[in-house]
Amino acid sequence: MKKGIFITFEGIEGSGKTTQAKLLAERLKEQGLDVIKTFEPGDTQAGKKIREILLSPSINMNPLTELLLYFSDRVQHVEEKIKPAINQGIIVICDRFTDSTIAYQGYGRGLSVELIEEFNNILLGNFKPDLTILLDLPAEIGLSRNQRINKRDRFEMEDIDFHNKVRDGYLQIAKSDPERFFIVDATEDASEISQKIFDIVQTKINTK
Ligand code: TYD
Repeated sequence: MKKGIFITFEGIEGSGKTTQAKLLAERLKEQGLDVIKTFEPGDTQAGKKIREILLSPSINMNPLTELLLYFSDRVQHVEEKIKPAINQGIIVICDRFTDSTIAYQGYGRGLSVELIEEFNNILLGNFKPDLTILLDLPAEIGLSRNQRINKRDRFEMEDIDFHNKVRDGYLQIAKSDPERFFIVDATEDASEISQKIFDIVQTKINTK
Protein backbone atom coordinates (compact mmCIF):
# COMPACT_ATOMS: atom_id res chain seq x y z
CA MET A 1 0.00 0.00 0.00
CA LYS A 2 1.13 3.54 -0.79
CA LYS A 3 2.26 5.44 2.31
CA GLY A 4 0.40 8.51 3.48
CA ILE A 5 1.82 12.00 3.79
CA PHE A 6 2.80 13.71 7.02
CA ILE A 7 2.12 17.46 7.00
CA THR A 8 2.80 19.71 9.99
CA PHE A 9 1.73 23.27 10.81
CA GLU A 10 4.04 25.52 12.80
CA GLY A 11 4.05 29.09 14.05
CA ILE A 12 3.88 31.32 17.11
CA GLU A 13 0.76 31.92 19.19
CA GLY A 14 -2.00 33.57 17.17
CA SER A 15 -0.55 32.61 13.78
CA GLY A 16 -3.74 30.85 12.72
CA LYS A 17 -2.27 27.32 12.47
CA THR A 18 -5.26 25.61 13.96
CA THR A 19 -7.71 27.32 11.60
CA GLN A 20 -5.53 26.61 8.57
CA ALA A 21 -4.96 22.97 9.53
CA LYS A 22 -8.72 22.52 9.78
CA LEU A 23 -9.38 24.23 6.43
CA LEU A 24 -6.78 22.08 4.71
CA ALA A 25 -8.20 18.88 6.18
CA GLU A 26 -11.70 19.84 5.01
CA ARG A 27 -10.57 20.62 1.47
CA LEU A 28 -8.61 17.39 1.12
CA LYS A 29 -11.56 15.38 2.45
CA GLU A 30 -13.83 17.06 -0.12
CA GLN A 31 -11.52 15.57 -2.76
CA GLY A 32 -12.22 12.13 -1.39
CA LEU A 33 -8.81 11.77 0.29
CA ASP A 34 -8.31 9.98 3.59
CA VAL A 35 -7.19 12.56 6.15
CA ILE A 36 -6.80 12.84 9.90
CA LYS A 37 -6.08 16.00 11.85
CA THR A 38 -4.10 15.81 15.05
CA PHE A 39 -2.10 18.11 17.37
CA GLU A 40 0.62 18.36 19.99
CA PRO A 41 0.75 18.31 22.90
CA GLY A 42 -2.06 16.06 24.07
CA ASP A 43 -3.77 14.05 21.33
CA THR A 44 -3.53 10.63 22.97
CA GLN A 45 -4.85 9.39 26.31
CA ALA A 46 -1.43 9.65 27.95
CA GLY A 47 -0.81 12.90 26.09
CA LYS A 48 -3.87 14.57 27.62
CA LYS A 49 -2.39 14.15 31.08
CA ILE A 50 1.04 15.33 29.92
CA ARG A 51 -0.58 18.40 28.33
CA GLU A 52 -2.26 19.33 31.61
CA ILE A 53 1.12 19.41 33.35
CA LEU A 54 2.83 21.23 30.49
CA LEU A 55 0.37 24.07 30.13
CA SER A 56 -0.76 24.64 33.70
CA PRO A 57 0.31 28.19 34.70
CA SER A 58 0.62 27.17 38.35
CA ILE A 59 3.25 24.46 37.80
CA ASN A 60 6.87 25.55 38.07
CA MET A 61 9.06 23.56 35.70
CA ASN A 62 12.72 23.16 34.83
CA PRO A 63 13.29 23.67 31.05
CA LEU A 64 14.74 20.15 30.75
CA THR A 65 11.69 18.64 32.43
CA GLU A 66 9.56 20.57 29.97
CA LEU A 67 11.64 19.28 27.06
CA LEU A 68 11.33 15.66 28.16
CA LEU A 69 7.58 15.96 28.62
CA TYR A 70 7.15 17.29 25.08
CA PHE A 71 9.17 14.33 23.81
CA SER A 72 7.16 11.89 25.95
CA ASP A 73 3.98 13.21 24.42
CA ARG A 74 5.50 13.02 20.93
CA VAL A 75 6.78 9.44 21.15
CA GLN A 76 3.35 8.26 22.31
CA HIS A 77 1.64 10.30 19.59
CA VAL A 78 3.91 9.06 16.78
CA GLU A 79 3.71 5.39 17.77
CA GLU A 80 0.01 5.31 18.68
CA LYS A 81 -1.46 7.56 16.05
CA ILE A 82 0.74 9.09 13.37
CA LYS A 83 2.79 6.12 12.11
CA PRO A 84 -0.15 3.68 11.97
CA ALA A 85 -2.14 6.22 9.91
CA ILE A 86 0.76 6.94 7.52
CA ASN A 87 1.27 3.20 7.04
CA GLN A 88 -2.39 2.87 6.04
CA GLY A 89 -1.96 5.51 3.32
CA ILE A 90 -3.69 8.29 5.27
CA ILE A 91 -2.69 11.97 5.05
CA VAL A 92 -1.85 13.16 8.59
CA ILE A 93 -2.12 16.88 9.35
CA CYS A 94 -0.51 17.75 12.66
CA ASP A 95 -0.77 21.07 14.51
CA ARG A 96 2.82 21.43 15.89
CA PHE A 97 5.63 18.85 15.99
CA THR A 98 9.40 18.72 16.68
CA ASP A 99 10.01 22.14 15.11
CA SER A 100 7.93 23.59 17.98
CA THR A 101 10.34 22.04 20.45
CA ILE A 102 13.35 23.47 18.65
CA ALA A 103 11.71 26.90 18.42
CA TYR A 104 10.23 27.10 21.96
CA GLN A 105 12.55 25.03 24.14
CA GLY A 106 15.65 25.66 22.00
CA TYR A 107 15.47 29.24 20.74
CA GLY A 108 12.88 30.42 23.30
CA ARG A 109 14.09 28.83 26.53
CA GLY A 110 17.72 28.68 25.46
CA LEU A 111 18.28 24.90 25.61
CA SER A 112 20.87 23.54 23.20
CA VAL A 113 19.38 23.00 19.74
CA GLU A 114 21.97 20.23 19.14
CA LEU A 115 20.76 18.45 22.28
CA ILE A 116 17.15 18.62 21.10
CA GLU A 117 18.11 17.32 17.66
CA GLU A 118 20.04 14.51 19.28
CA PHE A 119 17.05 13.53 21.43
CA ASN A 120 14.94 13.64 18.33
CA ASN A 121 17.29 11.30 16.46
CA ILE A 122 17.45 8.87 19.34
CA LEU A 123 13.70 8.83 20.00
CA LEU A 124 12.21 9.22 16.52
CA GLY A 125 15.03 8.14 14.20
CA ASN A 126 14.59 9.67 10.79
CA PHE A 127 10.84 10.08 11.13
CA LYS A 128 9.99 13.63 10.11
CA PRO A 129 7.30 15.56 8.25
CA ASP A 130 7.16 15.43 4.45
CA LEU A 131 6.00 19.04 4.43
CA THR A 132 5.94 21.76 7.10
CA ILE A 133 3.85 24.90 6.72
CA LEU A 134 5.25 27.79 8.75
CA LEU A 135 2.74 30.57 9.37
CA ASP A 136 4.98 33.53 10.00
CA LEU A 137 4.02 36.86 11.56
CA PRO A 138 5.42 39.41 14.02
CA ALA A 139 5.03 38.33 17.65
CA GLU A 140 3.16 41.56 18.57
CA ILE A 141 0.41 40.77 16.09
CA GLY A 142 0.13 37.09 17.08
CA LEU A 143 -0.06 37.86 20.77
CA SER A 144 -2.62 40.62 20.37
CA ARG A 145 -4.84 38.23 18.40
CA ASN A 146 -4.67 35.73 21.24
CA GLN A 147 -5.27 38.28 23.96
CA ARG A 148 -8.52 39.15 22.26
CA ILE A 149 -9.70 35.60 22.82
CA ASN A 150 -8.21 35.62 26.33
CA LYS A 151 -5.89 32.62 26.13
CA ARG A 152 -3.46 32.47 29.06
CA ASP A 153 -1.47 29.25 29.37
CA ARG A 154 2.17 28.99 30.51
CA PHE A 155 3.49 30.10 27.12
CA GLU A 156 1.04 32.90 26.54
CA MET A 157 2.23 34.37 29.82
CA GLU A 158 5.77 34.71 28.48
CA ASP A 159 6.89 38.20 27.41
CA ILE A 160 7.33 39.56 23.90
CA ASP A 161 11.09 38.84 23.89
CA PHE A 162 10.41 35.14 24.32
CA HIS A 163 7.95 35.10 21.42
CA ASN A 164 10.33 37.10 19.22
CA LYS A 165 13.02 34.49 19.88
CA VAL A 166 10.59 31.71 18.98
CA ARG A 167 9.64 33.46 15.75
CA ASP A 168 13.29 34.02 14.77
CA GLY A 169 14.02 30.41 15.69
CA TYR A 170 11.33 29.16 13.34
CA LEU A 171 12.73 31.28 10.49
CA GLN A 172 16.19 29.84 11.08
CA ILE A 173 14.94 26.26 11.17
CA ALA A 174 13.04 26.87 7.92
CA LYS A 175 16.15 28.34 6.30
CA SER A 176 18.16 25.27 7.20
CA ASP A 177 15.64 22.90 5.58
CA PRO A 178 14.07 24.76 2.62
CA GLU A 179 13.00 21.53 0.88
CA ARG A 180 10.61 20.64 3.70
CA PHE A 181 9.37 24.12 4.66
CA PHE A 182 6.78 26.35 3.04
CA ILE A 183 6.64 29.78 4.69
CA VAL A 184 3.39 31.71 4.51
CA ASP A 185 2.79 35.34 5.52
CA ALA A 186 0.21 34.85 8.26
CA THR A 187 -0.91 38.49 8.19
CA GLU A 188 -2.62 37.86 4.85
CA ASP A 189 -6.29 37.10 4.49
CA ALA A 190 -7.21 33.62 5.80
CA SER A 191 -8.82 32.47 2.56
CA GLU A 192 -5.78 33.54 0.51
CA ILE A 193 -3.49 31.68 2.92
CA SER A 194 -5.68 28.62 2.70
CA GLN A 195 -5.50 28.63 -1.11
CA LYS A 196 -1.71 28.89 -1.11
CA ILE A 197 -1.42 26.01 1.32
CA PHE A 198 -3.84 23.90 -0.68
CA ASP A 199 -1.84 24.47 -3.87
CA ILE A 200 1.46 23.46 -2.30
CA VAL A 201 -0.08 20.37 -0.71
CA GLN A 202 -1.57 19.30 -4.03
CA THR A 203 1.84 19.58 -5.66
CA LYS A 204 3.27 17.46 -2.84
CA ILE A 205 0.58 14.81 -3.26
CA ASN A 206 1.11 14.67 -7.03
CA THR A 207 4.86 14.32 -6.79
CA LYS A 208 4.98 11.75 -4.01
P1 TYD B 1 -1.85 25.08 22.44
O1 TYD B 1 -2.99 25.53 23.30
O2 TYD B 1 -2.01 23.78 21.74
O3 TYD B 1 -1.45 26.29 21.57
P2 TYD B 1 -1.39 26.64 20.06
O4 TYD B 1 -2.82 26.90 19.67
O5 TYD B 1 -0.53 27.87 20.05
O6 TYD B 1 -0.75 25.49 19.34
O7 TYD B 1 -0.56 25.05 23.37
C1 TYD B 1 0.59 24.46 23.03
C2 TYD B 1 1.72 25.27 23.63
O8 TYD B 1 2.84 24.43 23.81
C3 TYD B 1 2.15 26.41 22.72
O9 TYD B 1 2.28 27.58 23.48
C4 TYD B 1 3.52 26.00 22.23
C5 TYD B 1 4.00 25.03 23.25
N1 TYD B 1 4.87 23.96 22.72
C6 TYD B 1 6.22 23.94 23.07
O10 TYD B 1 6.68 24.82 23.79
N2 TYD B 1 7.00 22.91 22.61
C7 TYD B 1 6.51 21.90 21.84
O11 TYD B 1 7.25 20.98 21.46
C8 TYD B 1 5.11 21.93 21.48
C9 TYD B 1 4.52 20.83 20.65
C10 TYD B 1 4.33 22.99 21.95
